[in-house]
Amino acid sequence: MNVLVLGSGGREHALVYKLRESQHTQEIFCAPGNAGIAAEAECFPADLTRPAEVLALAERLDAGLTVVGPEAPLAAGVVDEFQKAGRAIIGPTRAAARLETSKVFAKQFMQRHNIPSARFAVAESFDQACQALRSFSLPVVIKADGLAAGKGVVVARTREEAENALDGFLRRQVLGVAGKQVVIEEFLIGWEMSFILLVDVRGGILPFPPAQDHKALFDGDLGPNTGGMGAYSDDALISPSLHQEILSRIVRPTLEGMEFEGSPYHGFLYCGLMLASDGPKVLEYNVRLGDPETQPTLMRLRSDAVEILSASLEGNLASVEGRWSPNPAVCVALASKGYPGVPDIGKVIEGCEAAESQGGVKLFHAGTVFRDGKLLTAGGRVLGVTAIAPDLESAIARAYVAVKMVHFEGMHYRKDIGAKGLRRSNPALERMPPGLLPGTTPTSS
Ligand code: AMP
Ligand code: GLY
Repeated sequence: MNVLVLGSGGREHALVYKLRESQHTQEIFCAPGNAGIAAEAECFPADLTRPAEVLALAERLDAGLTVVGPEAPLAAGVVDEFQKAGRAIIGPTRAAARLETSKVFAKQFMQRHNIPSARFAVAESFDQACQALRSFSLPVVIKADGLAAGKGVVVARTREEAENALDGFLRRQVLGVAGKQVVIEEFLIGWEMSFILLVDVRGGILPFPPAQDHKALFDGDLGPNTGGMGAYSDDALISPSLHQEILSRIVRPTLEGMEFEGSPYHGFLYCGLMLASDGPKVLEYNVRLGDPETQPTLMRLRSDAVEILSASLEGNLASVEGRWSPNPAVCVALASKGYPGVPDIGKVIEGCEAAESQGGVKLFHAGTVFRDGKLLTAGGRVLGVTAIAPDLESAIARAYVAVKMVHFEGMHYRKDIGAKGLRRSNPALERMPPGLLPGTTPTSS
């Protein structure tokens, strides 16, 4: 069959890379794609927030399977449009996508269904918010309700910082309608991890191996939040018992709750978790694959990607066993000067071929464009240098050898991707939450 991937980042490049390996894929397309994707799939321009336009493209390309990468098309109702037309697509409906598009909805949903999460209050005016703030100790987390491209969450260390954030969202409306309501949330302490799974049309699931993102800009998790400066996927991130606890206390109640409320969930579900000393808690839901987490995770996929996705459309995931390499994988994001603010783009990128000629290394493109015979930077996150190796330490080393071969003006990256995973084996880290013991998730083989 023909397969269409929607999006233009590293996540979508990783999807294209795996989908084109499938024995069931005839032709592979991407909209809008990037320079790296264009080398592996035919790319088409498209406004992904216009469902009718996207459906027309899928019809023209005779796409038997469409996979949605980012949240914007889901929020715009692309899946609803495809479903009305009877065309196969992977992703939740607009109503189900509220788990990500509205933080107020997500928090109240978790409360209704007893899903562990941070204590919270919702406010619609500055005065109401300041009143609510008094019942929280510091630090405190302030979140804008709507989609804000990573700019909607502030971890405030002082009351002044918290009030500034509230003033920005609710009075100065710096995020427009996305900040019309806010969530004020208790600050959780623990280990953050990304638990991603595929949900079929009957609620069957296929959990992916665990991954950990590195959201902060600088080494040591310092500096402002970004879309993610790198990630690794390693079975040792969670023990089998913690894996089961996440399924029973978080995943199952989430899917049953959505079904009960009339918005059954289908597609990729990303539970952003804090592994706290009293158990896993949901920080956020995303209704899609994570980026960069998808890059190292899919590097480990051994199953046929089309077979898995088709099983999810047939409600048949329970009978599918995901096959994953036991080897960990690491992805280091190379970013443009200025990122996560306005990036300085149009810089010549050199060294990709040499980097990719290293065994076990793949460069997933994000903000790249091919112009006048040159590969140029075209966005904040430019490349995801991804490596797989028999152990985490070797995967990290392999990724950074490849990173050093790539160059563009203003390039910056974190030097400590995966280091947290390595520290796990260090006895000095005994304060880690229980459950974070080396082990293998039942999904892996
Ligand atoms: P979110 O978009 O809700 O995941 O928030 C972005 C980031 O802010 C998360 O990845 C965490 O690093 C941090 N964060 C969000 N909520 C909390 C919380 N309740 N406690 C501690 N950190 C948080
Ligand atoms: N890596 C975080 C996200 O995809 O939202």
